[in-house]
Amino acid sequence: MLFSVTRFTTRFGARRAALAVLLNAALLSGVQAAAAAPVDTAPTTYSDAAALGKLMFFDASLSASGKMSCASCHSPSHAYGPPNGLAAQLGGADMRSQGTRAVPSLRYVLNRTPIWSHPQAASLSERLSETDNAPMGGFGWDGRFNKLHDQASFPLFNPNEMANKDPDAVLAKLQRTPYAARFKEVFGQNIFADPTKAFTQAMYAIERFELEDPSFRPYTSKFDYYLDGKVQLTAQELRGKKLFDNPAGGNCASCHIDQPGVNGAHPLFTDFNFQALGVPRNAELRANADPKYFDMGLCGPIRTDQSSDKTNCGLFKSVSLRNTATRHVFFHNGRFHTLKDALRFYVQRDTNPAKWYPKDAHGKVDKFNDLPVALRVNVDTTDEPLTRKAGERPVWSEQDIDDVAAFLTTLNDDYVLNAKRSR
Ligand code: HEC
Ligand code: HEC
Repeated sequence: MLFSVTRFTTRFGARRAALAVLLNAALLSGVQAAAAAPVDTAPTTYSDAAALGKLMFFDASLSASGKMSCASCHSPSHAYGPPNGLAAQLGGADMRSQGTRAVPSLRYVLNRTPIWSHPQAASLSERLSETDNAPMGGFGWDGRFNKLHDQASFPLFNPNEMANKDPDAVLAKLQRTPYAARFKEVFGQNIFADPTKAFTQAMYAIERFELEDPSFRPYTSKFDYYLDGKVQLTAQELRGKKLFDNPAGGNCASCHIDQPGVNGAHPLFTDFNFQALGVPRNAELRANADPKYFDMGLCGPIRTDQSSDKTNCGLFKSVSLRNTATRHVFFHNGRFHTLKDALRFYVQRDTNPAKWYPKDAHGKVDKFNDLPVALRVNVDTTDEPLTRKAGERPVWSEQDIDDVAAFLTTLNDDYVLNAKRSR
């Protein structure tokens, strides 16, 4: 099966690498590959639908508050990620309702995210021998959308975000925009007479913008130029890359793939797989004031079709690390606000749990406290660097963390290649 892959222990590194190749191959031949040429160059044409979708993406008048557009959260000057360090953004009709998850960057992943799949192990013995197959793909931290046009309606209706009551509310607003006439020219003069069709076309337009606009995939990072042989990495950046790659050390590249794919497609630093990392509960999220509330990703409460399998609880999708060094909020619940803290968490989660988790009523460190106790077994303790014991030495020193942060900074877009010095 195309996407079948074993559970990820370092022992299966080879199979994981094979997956990376398969994944790229599949994507290049797949339906979403419209813009996935070798280095994922943008299509030469820009459709009328995409142009309309762009207007919609930036149009705050499409929200109940009149103040929030897609771009309010997915800011183009912040790699289509959040413009601030809030763990979750404020929205709703009064712009005071808080969401429950951090805003992901929309760069690079939109045309290269595989559809959601969760191939099951063929037999019990396969499961027992740790070859249970991993869930992967789909949009959202929990992978619940396969199509961008399906995803686009979620924020338009979500009471914490753009908060429209229903499609009619969106269409009424759309018809009052300066580009309503253009919408009719493109989709038919009578398009608004058929609300279902009009709404479908509107979501399609947003999807076209997301797939066609080159600003979602500029490939202008220092790392891209390095892959193309146009620039060297510094000694520190190379040290960081080595630490990032080392399977017995950081082991980051086993999930955040940094090797070019077939045909030279530049890597996205994600494998689109799901993992439970045990990120600590974040008190900045209002939903967490309720001790019985848990955002468990794949198994709910937002996603609802995978909750019967409790091994899904706590799993979130691995995200691209491109432009991550520009962010001020990390992981699905926005628990960390600096890149270095996110890195420290990986290497010190197990060696010094008291640094990350509060104490429970009995004075014991409440490790993996963002999951109900019975489900904490789902948290990854088999992949390096998540295998250590309390008191052991972390796999990275502070110097190492600086070096990896320097390497990750080479993934920021808009790197200016030095003009050759004239002598
Ligand atoms: C209030 C902030 C906010 C607004 C407004 C917003 N989003 Fe998002 N967006 C998010 C958050 C948070 C997520 C992660 C959601 C989740 O996992 O449930 C997300 C996820 C996404 C994703 C999935 C990305 C991925 O890699 O899986 C896409 C695509 C997206 N948004 C597009 C849009 C579009 C299009 C609009 C406007 C119609 C929009 N967003 C409006 C906050 C926002
Ligand atoms: C076993 C797979 C796996 C390994 C190994 C791994 N990651 Fe991740 N990474 C993930 C997943 C899954 C997420 C999202 C988890 C969440 O939010 O709950 C993530 C999220 C992140 C984020 C947050 C990005 C954002 O935009 O919020 C950073 C930074 C990161 N990883 C860096 C690293 C580094 C550095 C290493 C090596 C020390 C590493 N990862 C190792 C799977 C992995």
